[in-house]
Amino acid sequence: MAESRIFKNEDALDTEWLPKNLPYRETQHHQIAACIKPLLQGRNGRNCIISGAPGIGKTAAVKLVLKELEEHPDASAPDTAILYVNCWQKNTTYKIFIELCEQLGYKFVQNKNTEDLFKIIANIVNKKAAVFAFDEIDKVEDCDFLYHIFTEIYKKTILLITNHPQWYATVDARIKSRLLPERIDFTAYTTQEIAGILRSRAEYAFHSGALEDATFDIIAQKTAQKGDLRLGLYLLREAGLAAEEQDARKITTEHANRALAKLTDFSIKPEEALSPEAKLILELVKTQSGKMGDLFKQYQDIGGSGTYKTFQRRVEELNAGGFIETKKIIGGKDGTTTMLKHKSLDEF
Ligand SMILES: Nc1ncnc2c1ncn2[C@@H]1O[C@H](COP(=O)(O)OP(=O)(O)OP(=O)(O)O)[C@@H](O)[C@H]1O
Ligand SMILES: [Mg+2]
Repeated sequence: MAESRIFKNEDALDTEWLPKNLPYRETQHHQIAACIKPLLQGRNGRNCIISGAPGIGKTAAVKLVLKELEEHPDASAPDTAILYVNCWQKNTTYKIFIELCEQLGYKFVQNKNTEDLFKIIANIVNKKAAVFAFDEIDKVEDCDFLYHIFTEIYKKTILLITNHPQWYATVDARIKSRLLPERIDFTAYTTQEIAGILRSRAEYAFHSGALEDATFDIIAQKTAQKGDLRLGLYLLREAGLAAEEQDARKITTEHANRALAKLTDFSIKPEEALSPEAKLILELVKTQSGKMGDLFKQYQDIGGSGTYKTFQRRVEELNAGGFIETKKIIGGKDGTTTMLKHKSLDEF
């Protein structure tokens, strides 16, 4: 491939790409590290619940702390297992234990039940200390794994990350009374902070001089409106690709506008991460808005096999992920109904 005239490092616009530091999140970075610190001194760690709106650096901050721990272990600290699970994909105790076994290098997971798996995990982890990070924790279907970890792992820090701090109120009391997490809140970035973050990502990503100031301003402004940095990263990349397509030397406002026009294709979270059932429902809602009950019938017609309860659950998941919007209409002619609508991102 010929070298790009626009991109120096396109990967820097990937949402998974981890910058070396996270400006404006120093306080939270420090708070997360402070929860782990006792663990590194041979004591039990502290637990915390990290919350805030989508796309404001929660995952990035946690991953950065874990990466530092992995790359620069404290020589005097006990050996520490570092475990990170995204509960959007691994949403049951069984799936989480399988994932933890894999991360701990244990491969013989076939034909083992949840309890067997946990024994293996405890056996490995109790020889050292462990940091457990459970991202998108509100997506889990059960919290048994937390109970097991809390009661049977000796030296640990548990980090729980969520968009919905109210999720914690729904957790079983036997877990809550033990976990007692500290709260670490991620507040929204200001317009200037968003611009600062995008500017530095753009500097990593584009050749110097490739991005026109006016282009940057359009993108930064749109991102600030929404507050989700993923949107800005998406727009920067799309504008860059539009410039490349035209073999242009600079990314102009016209390219930014082209990127904006593509917004309907953009999802806050990658759709690939959704379960097949959730995808099916999303496809349905994309083609039409409507009442939950009516859409459920159509979902069955096109081969959906879940019960109404499962359907509702998936709808909640899609709503939480920002894919669709739901609105409860109370006291209409059919009593209370829930309306579903695709979040086409022209609302951005
Ligand atoms: N302060 C920052 N400096 C540089 N990049 C940042 C900063 N904050 C967030 N980002 C980038 O913005 C993107 C979104 O952040 P992140 O994935 O951490 O969001 P999140 O808060 O976990 O959102 P969600 O709740 O939807 O999972 C990532 O690519 C991340 O690297
Ligand atoms: Mg995240």
